[in-house]
Amino acid sequence: MPTHFPLFPPTASTVAVEMDLLYLFITAVCAFFAILVVAVIAFFTIKYRRRTPDAVGADIHGSLMLELTWTFIPFVLSMVMFGWGASLFFRLASPPANAMELFVVGKQWMWKVQHPEGVREINEMHVPIGRPVRVTLGSEDVLHDYFIPAFRVKMDVVPGKVTTLWFEATEVGTYHIFCAEYCGTKHSGMIGQVIVMTPQDYEAWLAGGRSTGTAVQNGERLFTDLACVTCHKPDATGRGPSLLGVYGSTVALSDGRKVVADENYLRESIMNSQAKVVAGYQGIMPTFQGMVTEENLLQLIAYIKTLKPAAPAGGQGK
Ligand code: CUA
Repeated sequence: MPTHFPLFPPTASTVAVEMDLLYLFITAVCAFFAILVVAVIAFFTIKYRRRTPDAVGADIHGSLMLELTWTFIPFVLSMVMFGWGASLFFRLASPPANAMELFVVGKQWMWKVQHPEGVREINEMHVPIGRPVRVTLGSEDVLHDYFIPAFRVKMDVVPGKVTTLWFEATEVGTYHIFCAEYCGTKHSGMIGQVIVMTPQDYEAWLAGGRSTGTAVQNGERLFTDLACVTCHKPDATGRGPSLLGVYGSTVALSDGRKVVADENYLRESIMNSQAKVVAGYQGIMPTFQGMVTEENLLQLIAYIKTLKPAAPAGGQGK
């Protein structure tokens, strides 16, 4: 259901129309009161102007009804804005569990995209219609901002951190990707296209792409190549903690703190390994700062996320 307001970008995701309605609602309320206040000021200025040099204003001691009214109406209106905005925000902040996962790395001045099946592309992002897509974002250099106006989603891409956004496309078509954060000389050229396809076309497109291994496969290979595997043994006999089931769990640290092992925790533990040492272990892990690229990091994290606690019958339980 596109809104046919010519100044707006197309509406091509599940939240786009509602986002526009909320925006128009807030704008309309603000415009209504701005006009009302200015009109009343102008009207009173003329009606109650001083007509003779010795005129004195009436002595007014307030009006409870009037004060209650102009408190209550703005309160209700601002609560509607808050409630509506918060509900939309929470929906945007929590991707559905069945979302497919894309990895996007921003660097001066391009967007590098990797699909779950391993197909890569640059400055283009093919996605199927009607399926939630969770995008994990990393930056190889400076601050960027991943912005798809037609989906009404935008997320900072921050060096040293992992951020995410999600959307579900509702219209087949080609839409802009912009970098919305000044990031150097060619910032304005850091643009791309999202191509929304039917599921059949998407499958066909994927099949025609050159896969260089899935993110998880690449992560698993890195896990061995970087020798992570020699310390992080699955049976917890290694010098580092076992990583089975670590993602999403609560980890006790040697300084007594407890943290939830989310993507940013995993990232920090690889790049700045001494920042949060797990209780019962020594801070002997080297830092991998400068040894792994942002893409490698996202692959390692994707692999670690697949490590599930071993089944009782044995095996690695991947
Ligand atoms: Cu990247 Cu602006």
